[in-house]
Amino acid sequence: MLISVKNLTKNYKTESGKVTVGALKDVSFEIEKRKVLGIIGESGSGKSTLVRILSRLENFDSGSVEINGKDIYCFGKKEFSRTVQMIFQNPYASFNPKLTVGYSLSEALEKNCKNKKELIMNKLALVGIDEDILDKYPHQFSGGQRQRLAIARALLKEPDILIADEPFASLDAVSQSIITDIFIRIKKDKKTNIVFITHDISSAFEISDKILILKNGNIVKYGTIDDIKNDRTNDYVNELIEADYLLEQ
Ligand SMILES: Nc1ncnc2c1ncn2[C@@H]1O[C@H](COP(=O)(O)OP(=O)(O)OP(=O)(O)O)[C@@H](O)[C@H]1O
Ligand SMILES: [Mg+2]
Repeated sequence: MLISVKNLTKNYKTESGKVTVGALKDVSFEIEKRKVLGIIGESGSGKSTLVRILSRLENFDSGSVEINGKDIYCFGKKEFSRTVQMIFQNPYASFNPKLTVGYSLSEALEKNCKNKKELIMNKLALVGIDEDILDKYPHQFSGGQRQRLAIARALLKEPDILIADEPFASLDAVSQSIITDIFIRIKKDKKTNIVFITHDISSAFEISDKILILKNGNIVKYGTIDDIKNDRTNDYVNELIEADYLLEQ
């Protein structure tokens, strides 16, 4: 099993420290290797909390989280960065503005790594960015290009899992479809598994093998695209699919 989450519970304390917000309530699911997991659900349903826990950016209260059969907190720091890489919604915040993109990309590789340039070129080709950009600075790129560079940098670690929290959200439609194509290419490559959150149900259906639908910290539905499309018994799932259908008209 690639990821195994059992009875995961996470509460946040509000600033006053009195009230706790149940962000995840006894969440359990598993995903096999080489399957793309799409996570959808309304705002505040716990999506970011879940992926932040998977990438060790956030602790949890109870339950267990394993990757490749191993407790995520048993991984060493370096080992974990080769296992899970995360990209975020805001591509503007993901690169140090003072460093050239080439420098930031090479930092993702081990210091003494011999063929750095070739490895970088390889990943740039995968995300469709020309190789003459290494001396440029982040502000010289569009949001969509920066998101592609962020994906290239994450892939330089050759991670088992690439996690993306709403990678399309701040991008125009053209950039969104480019990133969708890149995800499909990564999926075909079969080296890196993808877990991504999106509000865009059609891209979730296009890229994912399995879909996890969260609502209010609970799993409403988890299954293959066909499972989800064919099960019209759940009102919430129905609403999401109808909304997607209407958008496509
Ligand atoms: N650091 C925090 N402190 C307190 N409450 C938080 C914190 N982070 C998240 N929450 C609360 O936990 C719940 C789940 O939040 P989360 O960010 O996981 O939702 P989400 O599904 O990613 O929403 P969105 O689609 O808006 O990004 C929400 O009620 C949110 O207000
Ligand atoms: Mg979120």
